[in-house]
Amino acid sequence: MTLSITTGVLIQADRWLATAQRIALEAGALMRKQWRQTHTIRSKGYRDIVTETDLAVEQLVIERLKASYPDHAITSEESGAEDSAASIRWLLDPVDGTTNFARSNPNFCITMAAIEGESPVAGVVYDPLRDHLFSARRGGGATLNGKRIQTRDTTQIAEVMFAVDWPRNPAARREMWQYAGKLIEQARTLRALGSAALNIVYVAPGWFDLYMARSLHAWDQTGAAVIAMEAGAVLGTLSGAPWTPSSPDPVVAATPALLEAFYTLQEGI
Ligand code: IPD
Ligand code: CA
Ligand code: CA
Repeated sequence: MTLSITTGVLIQADRWLATAQRIALEAGALMRKQWRQTHTIRSKGYRDIVTETDLAVEQLVIERLKASYPDHAITSEESGAEDSAASIRWLLDPVDGTTNFARSNPNFCITMAAIEGESPVAGVVYDPLRDHLFSARRGGGATLNGKRIQTRDTTQIAEVMFAVDWPRNPAARREMWQYAGKLIEQARTLRALGSAALNIVYVAPGWFDLYMARSLHAWDQTGAAVIAMEAGAVLGTLSGAPWTPSSPDPVVAATPALLEAFYTLQEGI
């Protein structure tokens, strides 16, 4: 995986990460306040909804990011991609796990990443109910609430606790069923939290060993992906192409050997 970033960017990345952490904590407090309320839910597509909290959190975060970094661009799930030639872009998912949040299921988070071109620079995932703040910048290692985290040393499929996300599209869902079905026959067990960012970031402290999805967006996965990478995970894709933030079909594995074993198992699908 190349995903290289320039030295000038690396020098500033710690400051950007600190800003993202501060904003995620503030946004998380708002989510905590609102999650048990009755929500205003609007459908924005097939199996896809948005609540008033998604919009309020998004507005807060965009205001804070713009105040700190007026020269950076922002792509956010609900308001789209800012048209800008800025070299640094923030990817924001104000509430990842909206379907959970809308019914007061506690599995959701806010996630943000700074990218330079197609290379992740720094990422944050904050689960406000558990007060779990996952963070990383490239080359700096990954932390959970300030303490270093590391992936599990899992190399055998038999030991794997894996997670998936279910795509919205029925055909893609059938395909995911095939991938997951092949793996669950041999793995320890399968979980699906309903938040791509949480599913991915749980590989970082060894809570999961492997994750796969179809149909993700850059804002769903990039913050968690950089944290998982910095904790020792390797990234690939179901299509076999190298992973980038725009890959719709990431595979995140705790070790290189596990990623290889996964690909061997799935041959022929
Ligand atoms: C969704 C969640 C879900 C995943 C979807 C995402 P949202 O994000 O991460 O787990 O299966 O693909 O779109 O809509 O809750 O931000
Ligand atoms: Ca999302
Ligand atoms: Ca969202």
